Amino acid sequence: MLRFALFLVAILGYLQVTSSLAIESRGTTTRSCAARPSGLWKPSPGTTWDYQLSHPITSASSLNTSLKVWDVDVFDNNATTIQAIQSLGLKVICYFSAGSYEDWRPDASSFDAADLGSDLDGWPGERWLNVSSPAVRTIMDARLDLAVRKGCDGVDPDNIDGYENDNGLNLTQDDAVDFVLYLANQAHSRNLSVGLKNGGAILPDVIDCMDWSVNEQCVEYNECDVYAPFIKQNKPVFHVEYPKGDDVNNNDDVSESTKEYICGDASASGFSTILKNIDLDSWIETC
Ligand SMILES: *[C@@H]1O[C@H](CO)[C@@H](O)[C@H](O)[C@H]1NC(C)=O
Ligand SMILES: *[C@@H]1O[C@H](CO)[C@@H](O)[C@H](O)[C@H]1NC(C)=O
Ligand SMILES: *[C@@H]1O[C@H](CO)[C@@H](O)[C@H](O)[C@H]1NC(C)=O
Ligand SMILES: *[C@@H]1O[C@H](CO)[C@@H](O)[C@H](O)[C@H]1NC(C)=O
Ligand SMILES: *[C@@H]1O[C@H](CO)[C@@H](O)[C@H](O)[C@H]1NC(C)=O
Repeated sequence: MLRFALFLVAILGYLQVTSSLAIESRGTTTRSCAARPSGLWKPSPGTTWDYQLSHPITSASSLNTSLKVWDVDVFDNNATTIQAIQSLGLKVICYFSAGSYEDWRPDASSFDAADLGSDLDGWPGERWLNVSSPAVRTIMDARLDLAVRKGCDGVDPDNIDGYENDNGLNLTQDDAVDFVLYLANQAHSRNLSVGLKNGGAILPDVIDCMDWSVNEQCVEYNECDVYAPFIKQNKPVFHVEYPKGDDVNNNDDVSESTKEYICGDASASGFSTILKNIDLDSWIETC
């Protein structure tokens, strides 16, 4: 009887070891960062930028070429426009929402209703996505292919932080880590650079596979120190604040004191900080 009990203990111990090995190997297969392609575009800290999503860039020749990186919508801008921006010596990051469904996009009908969660608070027509769903990932692969066809230098996959919102899908940080690493490997395999959009909570698990950070409102939320590891890794933090709140009247300037408060924030030292209105049109103030 005792020997049988010892045998059972041994078996159970063995099962426990093999199951933890299985988790470990799943971790090393799906959780690793594949080697980057040679010549991948890797911007440096302090690189200047602008962020315009409200409308396509209509006249590349009128852009301010002091701003070296342009983060623009992958659907709304065509290859001709992107090439025209690049011909000015500027780089183009193509924005798309990776973690939310947007009902107006040309590929909206590709989504499976079962993969859609709650509405995004304050963003009509958007719903959180099940980022673990293979069907969702296939759609995001196609968006990366679109970015390649349009000639983008990199991508800005947004809304990967459903875990910190009421998402209706029980999304976890772990789901986000898996998804962000998936997107990064897919982007790199296409010679596209890629950044972490917000998502400070998962930064330690993904930063090595990221080429930059795009951060919204870390001064407002007092969390810029969370993103400082990017600067230490010699990667830029493309940082935007929206100091005008809901005000999108471009005749309204930001007060000098507000600007000094944002631009002087020591925890954002080395960041590429810009001030925009919430519509992300052409209005900008730089530090
Ligand atoms: C990646 O793109 C860069 C231009 O951004 C190019 O110089 C480099 O050769 C490309 N690498 C590969 C492996 O295609
Ligand atoms: C590309 O977009 C620009 C700006 O919206 C537009 O003027 C142009 O006609 C478009 N070109 C093509 C080939 O669709
Ligand atoms: C999300 O997708 C994964 C993978 O297909 C699935 O296991 C999980 O049940 C889905 N979650 C929800 C809430 O449907
Ligand atoms: C989320 O988790 C709760 C608690 O485990 C469960 O009752 C609910 O059905 C889950 N929701 C989804 C969409 O899976
Ligand atoms: C272009 O951007 C630079 C850097 O922010 C700024 O100093 C300059 O005033 C801008 N030029 C125009 C014409 O807006």
